[in-house]
Amino acid sequence: MRRINIAIDGFSSCGKSTLAKQLAHHLGYTYIDSGAMYRAVALYVLENGLVSEGKLRKEELLRALDGIQIGFKHDDASQRSETWLNGRNVESKIRGMEVSRHVTLVSPVPEVRAKLVALQKAMGREGGVVMDGRDIGTVVFPDAEVKLYMTARPEVRAQRRYLELVGKGVEVDYASVLENITRRDDDDLKREADPLLKAADAFEIDNSDLTASEQFELALGQVLKTVGEQAEA
Ligand code: DC
Repeated sequence: MRRINIAIDGFSSCGKSTLAKQLAHHLGYTYIDSGAMYRAVALYVLENGLVSEGKLRKEELLRALDGIQIGFKHDDASQRSETWLNGRNVESKIRGMEVSRHVTLVSPVPEVRAKLVALQKAMGREGGVVMDGRDIGTVVFPDAEVKLYMTARPEVRAQRRYLELVGKGVEVDYASVLENITRRDDDDLKREADPLLKAADAFEIDNSDLTASEQFELALGQVLKTVGEQAEA
């Protein structure tokens, strides 16, 4: 069976990565978390003093951009793909609130997007990829055979993210998680470069009131329908 690309877009904490991993596992595809790449750039600017008084030192980032190496490596022990930045495993560092708070300083920068989009397109060249993000169905893989657009009510998403962080031992309160989510929604929708947009041919899933397995069945149905139609053609 031909290996297709699956694009999953939506707001933060919508369960995109849970669904993407389930689909990739089921189909034997590679899962790629494009948000991790923006998070890695955010970590870079934080660690290299390129943020002062909450503002990005953009010219310095642009000068450093060519030297920022981002990639993924499979970790046999955890059976997960982990994010690497300039030869260092940064998987856990990029998930913290500090990076979450600063990622929208770098994600609107067109030069950052151009670099990461080029890397993402290259990762999908052979097919067999499930990638999640904001602009995957519109910019990275505009020809993806299956595009899913996920939504859920902000309060539902904040509650899920809060529980996830607490489960990881992170000290955080629900109100600040909700505040972070609504601010990032706003940034994702309003930025000029590649804003979050539902592709015309995307299938929308609002999972506010769905279980993970109900959502998986819906999404898998879309994939099998597409693959089946292609096999018949
Ligand atoms: O999916 P996430 O929350 O880990 O993404 C982190 C940030 O990166 C988020 O604020 C939006 C941005 N992002 C983006 O601009 N484009 C993507 N394809 C993926 C993420």
